[in-house]
Amino acid sequence: MLLRTVVQGEDHFLQTIPNGGFRASGGSGTFALEMSTVKEIKRTTVTAALPYANGPLHIGHIAGAYLPADIYVRCLRLRGKEVLFVCGSDEHGAAITLRALKENTTPKAIVDKYHAIMGKAFKDFGIAFDIYHRTSSALHRKTSQDFFLQLHANGAFIEQEELQYYDEEAKQFLADRYIKGACPVCGNTDAYGDQCEKCGTALSPKELKDVRSTLSGSAPVLKPTSHWYLPMERSQQWVEEWINTGTLDGVQQHLANEWKPQVLGQCNSWLKDGLRPRAMTRDLDWGVPVPLPGADGKVLYVWLDAPIGYISATKEWAKDQAVKDPGSSPEWEKWWKSDETRLLHFIGKDNIVFHCIIFPILLKMHGGYILPQNVPANEFLNLEGEKLSTSRNWAVWLHEYIERWPDRQDELRYALTSIMPEFKDSEFTWKDFQDKNNNELVSILGNFVQRVFVLCHKYYEGKVPQPAHSSVEAGEQDTLLWADLNPLPAKVAEEVDRFRFREAMASAMHVARLGNKYLTDTEPWKLEKTDPERVRTVLYNGLRIVGALSVVLDPFLPFTATKLRTMLGIGTLPWDDAFRADLLVPGASLGKPEHLFKPIDDAAIAAEVERLHANRPKEDVPNTRVAAKPIKPMITFDDFSKLDLRIGVIRTAEVVPKADKLLKLTVDIGEAEPRTVVSGIAQHFDPEELPGTEVLFLANLEPRKMRGVESQGMVLMTEDAEGKLTFMRPARPVPAGSEVR
Ligand code: 2FM
Ligand code: ZN
Repeated sequence: MLLRTVVQGEDHFLQTIPNGGFRASGGSGTFALEMSTVKEIKRTTVTAALPYANGPLHIGHIAGAYLPADIYVRCLRLRGKEVLFVCGSDEHGAAITLRALKENTTPKAIVDKYHAIMGKAFKDFGIAFDIYHRTSSALHRKTSQDFFLQLHANGAFIEQEELQYYDEEAKQFLADRYIKGACPVCGNTDAYGDQCEKCGTALSPKELKDVRSTLSGSAPVLKPTSHWYLPMERSQQWVEEWINTGTLDGVQQHLANEWKPQVLGQCNSWLKDGLRPRAMTRDLDWGVPVPLPGADGKVLYVWLDAPIGYISATKEWAKDQAVKDPGSSPEWEKWWKSDETRLLHFIGKDNIVFHCIIFPILLKMHGGYILPQNVPANEFLNLEGEKLSTSRNWAVWLHEYIERWPDRQDELRYALTSIMPEFKDSEFTWKDFQDKNNNELVSILGNFVQRVFVLCHKYYEGKVPQPAHSSVEAGEQDTLLWADLNPLPAKVAEEVDRFRFREAMASAMHVARLGNKYLTDTEPWKLEKTDPERVRTVLYNGLRIVGALSVVLDPFLPFTATKLRTMLGIGTLPWDDAFRADLLVPGASLGKPEHLFKPIDDAAIAAEVERLHANRPKEDVPNTRVAAKPIKPMITFDDFSKLDLRIGVIRTAEVVPKADKLLKLTVDIGEAEPRTVVSGIAQHFDPEELPGTEVLFLANLEPRKMRGVESQGMVLMTEDAEGKLTFMRPARPVPAGSEVR
């Protein structure tokens, strides 16, 4: 909201700012405000998407929701703000029952297993939830049933009968994911009831042809069943206004321009299609039972019960607090029902409409709850050039990382924050992880702290030196240093408030960069002989910078911040005290100079990449054959050895103008220059998807001109029964130029 007020003849613009309160600009002086529409923010409820307890967490989950939420919360806490951070496992829905089928066990066994793995991994990684709850708890069941009953009493639902697929052998209605059939768009015979994974089309079960049940394999029948639907179209108008202007019932709730454009974009594209009724119940034997008479065998839709999980987590936390500290009054309701509370949902982009449209409708229809003030969803993280995928085991699993890289949590936190997919998809590579560690954490941060501590041990027996007071801020170098340093904590906080975590971490690291520059400019190791008094001031300032690093880096690198405090012999400082002048007492003992970070060598990185490839499941070998053509006449071994076959990597691919079958490729086979080849594959591949592909390459085929381009070899291919071409690739990656014998 932008409000204008005139104070002493000057215009002042007031704007709600993310950490609550208002920013004023234009003019100076103090002024009082009276505005009924303006609410003061006293506390923040932060939620992070409840992950499905159907598999472990990978780095995509972490960079998407949990790390940004954790940084945000840690920063608020250090700034003395009241904040509650809740999360838990999402233990219902077909995601769980399908996994149980796959692992040949019960849904309960699945959620118990993964809830434990995820809870431990979060804790080990330093994600500082106030509570990590679970939706299979009794408290959650009651909370979500009560919520449903209140919605029902408020007339929020319409009950409607529909025909749905029923498996007569398994004796159950089939959730969308339990139905397979032929895709009406591309003909894929393995399309699911909700989506064809081959062509990406969103489907509904009744659109499929030749439908079968994945439970029994039999053809299901259509049977009537009734469900409670949320007529979302009734909320279309207010949702549209609330999202795009921030106004709800005439009250300004948020500033739409503080929402990420991609979040607004996804919401508006849903709104443009028109909101439609959505079933809030399912026929399934796993979930929260629908608490109404005649609803046997029905459970709440998982996307109804999961976000209510945030509320039940808060209730459980409040209960725990009351036990731990009987004198406290941590009522849960103030975190959800007070208009002095700001609610923020950290999620990945696949959860946007559930948090920005469906859950807000449910909260409003229920009544009494606040709506989210922002939903800072992140985009997706890719891994080594491909989408992260649980089913293809293309992932870096958090619990495995922690096992293989013990005590290196901050190294991964740093690498992931520096590439956080805040506005578009981004990519994690092990090489980048190594570079960030070696060139930034070791060389900039670790090096600075090490230099200060080594010199303090060398000159002052490991004690804080006595600065020459008059010169702490007197010399020109010092004045410049403090002028650069002093604004940084506020800058970091402001960037965190705007969910710009990459920028915020860079600003925090800038403190270490300036520290290094200060040491390089002042050269205390040279000065010690001629001006020891000046050196005491320089190193005292150096220690103050280390103190500030223990504050501004804490949200990003909490393990390192703790080490810094131990080395300095200080406790946790409030944010505003980052540069407190009397932080360090001259004569106090310092800890040992410790290497905060260790360089990572190429072999460790190669092993990680190798591991990724090795763990990939073998692609299913189709159970079909093509009619064998007669084998060509025999050749001798000498004939064979005349062929020079290599592994090549396609570097570039482009269409050949006016030739609809040809692509011009450049293929790296380890020579100084890549080979150019013209290949008749244009109708099988999109040139954009080819760079980086490994191929089998015939390197000593006589060059030949095609459409004016000299083709210097041949990319070898095979084709399937339908005539679709595919490349011949090594079973695991090998360097370009490797010989094939
Ligand atoms: O996408 C998911 O992993 C869901 N389990 C997220 C649920 S978020 C919230 F609503 F609980
Ligand atoms: Zn399809």
